[in-house]
Amino acid sequence: MHPRMTPDLPDAALAAQYEAYPYPARDPREEAKRLIIGSPSHLREVDHWVFGARRPASQPLRALMAGGGSGDGSLMLAQQMTSLGRPGRVTWLDRSTAAKRVAMARAAVRGLDNLGFEEGSLLELPRSGLGPFDYIDCCGVLHHLPDPAEGLAALVSVLAPGGGIGIMVYAPHGRTGVYMLQDALRLLAPTDLPPPSRIEIAKRLWKQAPDTAWLRRNPWIDDHLKGGDAGLYDLLLNPRDVAFTVPQLAALVAGAGLRIAALMEPLRYDPDSYLTDPRLRAVTTGLDTVQRAALAEAICGNMGIHIAYLVRASAPPLAAPWTDDAAVPVLRELDGPSLAKNLRADGVLSVTFDGLSVPVALPRLAGAFLSRVDGTRNWGEIMHGVIAAGAAPDHAARDRVTLVAAMEKTNRLLLAAPLTP
Ligand SMILES: C[S@@+](CC[C@H](N)C(=O)[O-])C[C@H]1O[C@@H](n2cnc3c(N)ncnc32)[C@H](O)[C@@H]1O
Repeated sequence: MHPRMTPDLPDAALAAQYEAYPYPARDPREEAKRLIIGSPSHLREVDHWVFGARRPASQPLRALMAGGGSGDGSLMLAQQMTSLGRPGRVTWLDRSTAAKRVAMARAAVRGLDNLGFEEGSLLELPRSGLGPFDYIDCCGVLHHLPDPAEGLAALVSVLAPGGGIGIMVYAPHGRTGVYMLQDALRLLAPTDLPPPSRIEIAKRLWKQAPDTAWLRRNPWIDDHLKGGDAGLYDLLLNPRDVAFTVPQLAALVAGAGLRIAALMEPLRYDPDSYLTDPRLRAVTTGLDTVQRAALAEAICGNMGIHIAYLVRASAPPLAAPWTDDAAVPVLRELDGPSLAKNLRADGVLSVTFDGLSVPVALPRLAGAFLSRVDGTRNWGEIMHGVIAAGAAPDHAARDRVTLVAAMEKTNRLLLAAPLTP
């Protein structure tokens, strides 16, 4: 018998879950008030981390959102492309009809005409006739599949040459306590009970779980508190959910013929963000990229997910052209003048990731640069402004390099896609 012909009970239960509780729970009317922004698939991140800020903005972007759910990533990307006048099309794909209904209603409120909907399994992509795609999002899906490697291979089968993938998978340490309560609920609320009964039992358990239950002590996880029934079910009653450490993620990625172009945010995955002791630094310097990221994950202990941009292993390294004066820097979801105005006198920017503050030392001219970053001025124009305001040219050149090195790792200062090839 072909392995796929074997009925996979957890997968059938997973399909039933997302029909009963499309994820995440969203009210389409909210689209009139706000756009939900995040990673992966923020257009600025895709331009920078996947395409190295070299793919022209005028080139149509064909994007696939595999396991698009109720539409957060699809709406964000389609809206950002629309707002920036970027050509292309976003294709939502999921096997949940209920999720499609929500995502379509949200797209209708926004009046998006660059977003299409396909219902089906991403595992069927190789035979689907869909694609190729320049960019593929697969956020919070691979870790629910019967075989995540098969899922990733299915995505690669429709990836255009030179394209890239943005994934999010669970990570174990930041989810401390989740798997213990999942074990408890497998005993208290078996998967053959109807979903509403399982929810009710989970709520009863949460009321009674003692203070020593690790989830009570885990401040990074709040889907069971803030995500409604859909969030509670997804977190504690999910029929299949596996977490990947950095080395496990790296192995999954390599097995699909891909490599990690960047982990979000790079600063979190740099052990030197946490370790200043020279004896420890002497060791971290000798580690390779995956080992360094694994060490950072093990040290900080608060990573509940990994967000990674992936490209083909054979793709040449594509560092963004930071030294090019024609390149246009952008501040991702930050306003340059306000950021500059609020910089501390000691030049240290405190960046917080899931409760963990990491100090980022900025150079003296940081404010002069950041106040001029508006998404339209290029580096040449910004340098000209900084020097015209009184900075010595060599000082400005030095501080530009230091600023970029510090801020790119926060995923906040990126380069825009060039307007022309
Ligand atoms: C946790 S939700 C994530 C939704 C969305 N990507 C997000 O991050 O907001 C997982 C989604 O994957 C979908 N899914 C699971 N297995 C799938 C498969 N084999 N093919 C397509 N979609 C699948 C589910 O229906 C569900 O909508």
